Amino acid sequence: MIDQLKKLQEELNSTLVTTKEELEDFRMKFISKKGVFTDLFEKFKELPGDQKREIGQALNEVKTFAQARFKELASQIDQVNTATDGADVTLPTVPFQAGSVHPITQTYFRVIEIFERLGFNVKDGPEIEDDWHNFTALNFPANHPARQMQDTYFLSEDKDSLLRTHTSNVQIRLMKDNKPPFRAIMPGRVYRNEAISSRAHCFFHQVEGLCIDKAISFKDLKQTLYHFSKEMFGKDTEIRLRPSYFPFTEPSAEIDISCFICKQKGCKICKQTGWVEIAGAGIVDPNVLENCGIDPSEYSGFAFGMGIERIAMLKYQLDDIRLFSENDLRFLRQF
Ligand code: PHE
Repeated sequence: MIDQLKKLQEELNSTLVTTKEELEDFRMKFISKKGVFTDLFEKFKELPGDQKREIGQALNEVKTFAQARFKELASQIDQVNTATDGADVTLPTVPFQAGSVHPITQTYFRVIEIFERLGFNVKDGPEIEDDWHNFTALNFPANHPARQMQDTYFLSEDKDSLLRTHTSNVQIRLMKDNKPPFRAIMPGRVYRNEAISSRAHCFFHQVEGLCIDKAISFKDLKQTLYHFSKEMFGKDTEIRLRPSYFPFTEPSAEIDISCFICKQKGCKICKQTGWVEIAGAGIVDPNVLENCGIDPSEYSGFAFGMGIERIAMLKYQLDDIRLFSENDLRFLRQF
């Protein structure tokens, strides 16, 4: 039996374990109740009394060694596993997932595409603006109540630096720096100090349009928006103009389209009216042209502005504007 124990000791010393499976084999063979030591203890019971002391001691030593060795091997295997984060590094990699274009950007692209075909250029401008370009030049006199229509984030105490409340600032820059005729659209992000809800956000996106030439009239505006609405929402779409007020246009109108969701039968989106508002528009006020050095007796023009979130919400039938800026992949993956 002493020989047997010696052999066992050698085997324990030389056994190497590199995988969990091998560790389990080691456990079955040396540690578990069905392992070699159970047999050896059975045999030990039958030994003559005078051998029991010596062999018993040797047997216990080898058994204690086997248990310590098992612990050591188990911790080695554990370390290997944490080094690779428990991952099987031999598995094939997860296929690369390409992202998709954000629904707001998709809507931008579509709007731009429609107006480009009508000969409109795209014009960009700053989001941090001064009072003159965002308000004064647009015929908002100082202290005029219309300034409060657009809750403004001011960036300086004298209120001369602000986050633009609309992309009309780009219209001013275009008219000031160039000679008419122009036909341009101004897409961009705008900011308003509003409480965030499902219908309103403190930042959103607009596309404004401006067309200045000789003898431009309200019918040009109407026809342009009529064409846009049919392209954007379907060929059966009708438009309706309601009188409105903006300091920079006169006359001004709010543009509604016939509800393409319920086909004017009345639904939640159109609040049972059959019409949904998509834009503000009007004939550029002569004061605005003058402020930008354009002679109103020679030139006239129309302007319009629409909220991209509003258009996208209608198009995709969404009822919460916050979805666009939450970056929830479950939402974004649908586009
Ligand atoms: N600037 C207006 C707004 O943000 C929209 C608009 C643009 C209205 C051009 C009329 C003409 O509310």
